[in-house]
Amino acid sequence: MGVLNRIGIALDSDLLKRFDRSIQQRGYTNRSEAFRDLIRDRLVTEQTAAPEATVVGTVTLIYDHHAHGITEKLTEAQHEHHDLVVSTSHAHLDHDSCLEVLIVHGKSAQVAQFADLLIGLKGVQHGRLVMTVPAHEIEHPHEHGHKH
Ligand code: NI
Repeated sequence: MGVLNRIGIALDSDLLKRFDRSIQQRGYTNRSEAFRDLIRDRLVTEQTAAPEATVVGTVTLIYDHHAHGITEKLTEAQHEHHDLVVSTSHAHLDHDSCLEVLIVHGKSAQVAQFADLLIGLKGVQHGRLVMTVPAHEIEHPHEHGHKH
């Protein structure tokens, strides 16, 4: 972290009231931390949107393992993209439903394409990709070379 700067923000009282209520519900004890998190979230979103950015993330998938060939297709897709998959965790939720969470790592565009492939497989009922980067890479994006 760099030098701490104090800034003033002009906000209409209605918006501020709603913001305070929202952060209170989320358990924030002060506005500054809530603002910092909002800003970081925005910067992470912008940074991970760049196709060449190196990102880490998770792909969450829900599927019915009875769906024809789904288990094999998921395994095959992950082997084909083994360079992007750090690890996979599987939970048998009930008699039919499976939850699979992949930790992924690689170029943003490749990770997104891989996630789309998984989520689009017939039998996958719901899926979502979350991409992020470590905080030090947001704050100084050009000072950190990637060792991959
Ligand atoms: Ni299962």
